[in-house]
Amino acid sequence: MKITAVFIAGVFLALASADILQNPDFELPPSNWRANSTTPFFPLDGNGTLPGWTFEGAVEYATAGPNLELTRDGHAIVLGQDGQINQTFTANGDQMQYLLTFTLARRIQNCTSNASLVVSAPDSSAQFSLTQRYGNEPWEVYGHQLGSWGDGESINLVIQSQVVDTDPNSTCWPVVDALSLITVRSLNQDHGNLLRNGGFEAGPSFLNFSNKGVLLDSEPSLTESALQQWTITGTVKYINAKNYFIPEGNSAIEIVSGTSAGVQTVVQLLTEGSNYNLEFMLGDANDSCPGDFTVGVTAGSSIQNFTIHSNGTGSAQKYLLTFTGAGPSPTPISFQSYTTTQREDGVLCGPVIDGVVLHASSGHRANLHSASLTVLLLIALLN
Ligand SMILES: *[C@@H]1O[C@H](CO)[C@@H](O)[C@H](O)[C@H]1NC(C)=O
Ligand SMILES: *[C@@H]1O[C@H](CO)[C@@H](O)[C@H](O)[C@H]1NC(C)=O
Ligand SMILES: *[C@@H]1O[C@H](CO)[C@@H](O)[C@H](O)[C@H]1NC(C)=O
Ligand SMILES: *[C@@H]1O[C@H](CO)[C@@H](O)[C@H](O)[C@H]1NC(C)=O
Ligand SMILES: *[C@@H]1O[C@H](CO)[C@@H](O)[C@H](O)[C@H]1NC(C)=O
Ligand SMILES: *[C@@H]1O[C@H](CO)[C@@H](O)[C@H](O)[C@H]1NC(C)=O
Ligand SMILES: *[C@@H]1O[C@H](CO)[C@@H](O)[C@H](O)[C@H]1NC(C)=O
Ligand SMILES: *[C@@H]1O[C@H](CO)[C@@H](O)[C@H](O)[C@H]1NC(C)=O
Ligand SMILES: *[C@@H]1O[C@H](CO)[C@@H](O)[C@H](O)[C@H]1NC(C)=O
Ligand SMILES: *[C@@H]1O[C@H](CO)[C@@H](O)[C@H](O)[C@H]1NC(C)=O
Repeated sequence: MKITAVFIAGVFLALASADILQNPDFELPPSNWRANSTTPFFPLDGNGTLPGWTFEGAVEYATAGPNLELTRDGHAIVLGQDGQINQTFTANGDQMQYLLTFTLARRIQNCTSNASLVVSAPDSSAQFSLTQRYGNEPWEVYGHQLGSWGDGESINLVIQSQVVDTDPNSTCWPVVDALSLITVRSLNQDHGNLLRNGGFEAGPSFLNFSNKGVLLDSEPSLTESALQQWTITGTVKYINAKNYFIPEGNSAIEIVSGTSAGVQTVVQLLTEGSNYNLEFMLGDANDSCPGDFTVGVTAGSSIQNFTIHSNGTGSAQKYLLTFTGAGPSPTPISFQSYTTTQREDGVLCGPVIDGVVLHASSGHRANLHSASLTVLLLIALLN
């Protein structure tokens, strides 16, 4: 009986820590660390090693407690002056995008700046600051695309502290915890949708133990965005059905950073003069965000504002915008918030967008349908 129980526990542990990164949540302690509640911040030096990671500069191994709140209890890394940690992983197989989710927190101490760190990999470098504007926890979860690799390339992920204060004594040093690195393949066209990832199902992973969404900062490049096929203006929160009201599927986006924030994509090769329908859902995430949300929707040359009223209790409705195809030039599709909404506790929140579907009005759609049926028939015949 006892042996079975131990074996099962071992299997669960292996599953829970399955990630491209080794020791992504820092629960494997430094080799020279001794559990000691009187020293919640353990400085790392040349006398010890941290499993999976290399460190440099002032780096501490921290234990959650009164001086440090984490998404869950456990351990994290404090990056002090010139502090950095790095880990190399191998990009096996086909070329794929690598999406990172991580938690940014800070020690509870007297400091004046926003704790900031820089995440870099061979194709990217991005700075993140703990703003605490989109939630009232002392930590935030961020999503970020590191780059695209494959064929056994060796990739070095580096996370380092960023000093935004001239006085190191008043700097709020960043705390990094709970990383999750996943790969995504390039998306196939959905059947009956000329847009890819219109349901926002492909994006960075959600952290199991966090009941909050994943923040995505501004990203003007389609190929470098963590939200597949969409660029981002301002900050949007990537939210999941486990913790929020989601109109369709498992995930959606909530535009949180107020006026002019939003998401954009482009569609290629629409037929000139043909009519197209852009369907989408607008609503609220059931996160106590009441108010009137105005969302400006652009599809080709059609621009229209949609205003919805939210009780903050989770609801959504389907809307439609029709437009005429303009030929071979890329057609912009975008959703932009025209309102800044704040909850009673000051947290910024906003409208939810989901289920974006683009298709040709009736006639064309039927053609598309029969074309794929023909392909299926041909495949059946060839077999
Ligand atoms: C999160 O939970 C899901 C289902 O409970 C599981 O499949 C997944 O492996 C877990 N992920 C992590 C990182 O623990
Ligand atoms: C815990 O840390 C304190 C302060 O550094 C030290 O005096 C004490 O000996 C440590 N206890 C153990 C069991 O390591
Ligand atoms: C190893 O620990 C000793 C005693 O704490 C310290 O004096 C020494 O500087 C450490 N070595 C390195 C390389 O940090
Ligand atoms: C961290 O980077 C250094 C080079 O800057 C490299 O030698 C080392 O192997 C890297 N550490 C890990 C764990 O990948
Ligand atoms: C933080 O600063 C305030 C005012 O400057 C001071 O009263 C307080 O004792 C300080 N707290 C700590 C933990 O240093
Ligand atoms: C720092 O945090 C404050 C609120 O805590 C926020 O208003 C400000 O924009 C943040 N600055 C940066 C650079 O993120
Ligand atoms: C920072 O604090 C340390 C000790 O707390 C002190 O020795 C040092 O002079 C301070 N540095 C500055 C720039 O104030
Ligand atoms: C949408 O609303 C914004 C803000 O009220 C306004 O500036 C903009 O002109 C409106 N756009 C359309 C197409 O009505
Ligand atoms: C808002 O709340 C009222 C009263 O509870 C309800 O009748 C209405 O349907 C709700 N509206 C939405 C959009 O959830
Ligand atoms: C909103 O959240 C509450 C509690 O968190 C839950 O009881 C309710 O079913 C949710 N509403 C929707 C529409 O998901």
